[in-house]
Amino acid sequence: MSTMMFARNQWYVAAYAQEVGDELLARTVLGEPIVFYRTAAGEVVGLADRCVHRRFPLSMSRRDGDRIVCGYHGFTYDSGGTCVYVPAQTRIPRTARVPSYPIVEQDSLVWVWIGDDDRADPATIPRAPWLDAEGWTTIRGVEPLSARYGLLVDNLLDLSHETYLHGGYIGTPEVAETPITTEVDEDAGIVRVSRRMKDVECPPFYAKSTGIEGRIDRWQDIEYHPPCLYILHSRIAATGVEPGPDNDDSAACHAKIVYAITPQTPTTTLDFWMVARDFAVDDEDVSRYLADSNHTVVMQDVVALNALESVIAAEPEGYQELSINIDTGALAARRLLHKLTTS
Ligand code: FES
Ligand SMILES: [Fe+2]
Repeated sequence: MSTMMFARNQWYVAAYAQEVGDELLARTVLGEPIVFYRTAAGEVVGLADRCVHRRFPLSMSRRDGDRIVCGYHGFTYDSGGTCVYVPAQTRIPRTARVPSYPIVEQDSLVWVWIGDDDRADPATIPRAPWLDAEGWTTIRGVEPLSARYGLLVDNLLDLSHETYLHGGYIGTPEVAETPITTEVDEDAGIVRVSRRMKDVECPPFYAKSTGIEGRIDRWQDIEYHPPCLYILHSRIAATGVEPGPDNDDSAACHAKIVYAITPQTPTTTLDFWMVARDFAVDDEDVSRYLADSNHTVVMQDVVALNALESVIAAEPEGYQELSINIDTGALAARRLLHKLTTS
C-alpha cells in the first residue's frame, strides 16, 4: 500500500468545540500547522501557526485580547491574520500576514477547510446532530495515531474485527459470522455498510449500559462520509422488539458511534471518537463505564494500526493484500477517497 495522498478541498475536524477557548491550541491538519483560539466574541479562529518573520510558532506565543503577539520578536496579528504591529518601525510590510482558515463550529465539532478558500462551502459539511442534541449524552476522546488515516478507515468499515480485537467489550462471535450489505451512493459520495443481527448475544458494552437482559437484536448501520466523518448507527433491543409502524423506535436503545478521521501527516492521524446515546442519559455511572470501555476499545485499535504502519514501512514495494467479502465497504471507501485525492 503506497502512502495515500491527502484529499484537499475538504472539511476536516480539527478539534472538539470544548477544546478551543482562551488558550492557543496547536493542531496539524493535512501537514498544515494551525493555531486555534476563541475570540472574546466566541468565534473560533484558525491561523497558520508560523510567524511570517522567522517562523516562530504562534501557538507558543501569547494573546493580547483577540490578537496574537509573536513570542520571538513581537510581530502582532489580528484574528484575521493581518499583522498590525512590528517592532522598531511604523511601516508594516504589506505582505505581513498569515493565512486564516475557514472555520465552522457545528454539532460540537470545529471544522476547518483545507484547500482553496473560495471553494469552502459550509453546507457540504456532514452533520452529526446527536452530539449536541436534547435527549442525548455523549462521551468522547481523541487519540493520536502513528498510522496513516487510510488504516483507520479500513478498520472502521469492517467491524468483523470486533470479534477478534475487541472480544469481551463490543465483540461477540456473531459479528464476524453475520454477512454485511454494502451500498455506495456515488452522487452523495457516501458508503453504507449494514449488518443486522437477530437473537444474538449482548456484548458487555451494551449489556452493562442499557440494562437489557438476555439476547438482543443488534443493528450496525455504518455511514461513511469521506474523508473525515464516520457514523455507526447502533440499535440494541431485546430480541423481537421491532420499530413501531409510525417509525417510533423508543422501545430500543440507540447509540451513535462517531469518528472524525483527521490526517496530520502522511503517516500520523488524529482519531476523534465519540459515543452518543439516547438511553440512561443522566446516569453518570453509565457514562463513566462507556468512556472507560470505549477508550480501551479505541486503544486496542490504536495498538493494532500502529503495528500495521510499521509493517508497511518495512515491506517491499508491490506487496499485495488479499481481500474477501468483509472488505467490500473498506474497498468502496478507498475508491471514493482515491477519487477525492485526485479531483
Ligand atoms: S519570528 Fe515572529 S516576530 Fe520574529
Ligand atoms: Fe475497532
